Amino acid sequence: MRQLLDAGAEVLTTARSATSTVPEGAAFVAADVRTRAGAEALAAAAQEVLGGVDILVHNAGGARPYAGSSAIPDEVWQDALDLNYLASVRLDSLLVPAMRERRSGAIVHVSSAAVLTPVGPFLHYTTAKAALENYSRGLALELAPFGIQVNAVAPGRTATPGGEATREQWAEVSARMGAAPAETNAEDTPPLGRDGQPDDIAHAVLFLVSDRASWLTGRNLIVDGGEFPMG
Ligand SMILES: NC(=O)c1ccc[n+]([C@@H]2O[C@H](COP(=O)([O-])OP(=O)(O)OC[C@H]3O[C@@H](n4cnc5c(N)ncnc54)[C@H](OP(=O)(O)O)[C@@H]3O)[C@@H](O)[C@H]2O)c1
Repeated sequence: MRQLLDAGAEVLTTARSATSTVPEGAAFVAADVRTRAGAEALAAAAQEVLGGVDILVHNAGGARPYAGSSAIPDEVWQDALDLNYLASVRLDSLLVPAMRERRSGAIVHVSSAAVLTPVGPFLHYTTAKAALENYSRGLALELAPFGIQVNAVAPGRTATPGGEATREQWAEVSARMGAAPAETNAEDTPPLGRDGQPDDIAHAVLFLVSDRASWLTGRNLIVDGGEFPMG
């Protein structure tokens, strides 16, 4: 967000509650993107505050781990799909028509490198992100004739409040399941010797929405410090 502001973009951001992480200069509207009503409120605010959307970054996401796939309740599956996949579908459906009319736009869906190694405790999450990646590729092909680029970014382990909390929960769940840390991957440091920082992911997003990526669409850029070399 900060990097988009520094690059001269007008930015509107959202979360369910306003936090100190909204940088100076960005507008904020509270919305729950898991719901159609939340997506509509956000789209309306974007029209009112920005007068339209040229760049759309879907970043909200995450899920807590469970002790194996059978322990994931139905409503948690639905919630994971709503947050990590359908939220993007809903918001895109509201904002893409104006992009098509203008015949320009850039959309980035934030997925996860965890899609490459799906494990039981996170199957609701990685399944939803895998669907997001497939949807993102298909949308890219659909919108390419209109000059709209659609790409995904798949972060590896990144030092954010949500990421840290999830890894702690994973360690707890793994201990309860009797899994060794090596089997959980929760303790590993990526080959580049450090966890990712939010700026590492923001750089990739900024690149994908910049003129330098003008011939890129339908791609999934894995930003993981080398954690998933076969990705
Ligand atoms: N951190 C990692 O290691 C990692 C790794 C791979 C992929 N990712 C992906 O990267 C993205 C960002 O993750 P993060 O680690 O930065 O997460 P985070 O620290 O939990 O932050 C998530 C942000 O999204 C907002 N949000 C959550 N649910 C929302 C909802 N229903 N409606 C609107 N806003 C909502 C949160 O604010 P509120 O709670 O106030 O709504 C918060 O501002 C996610 O898509 C995640 O899956 C992260």
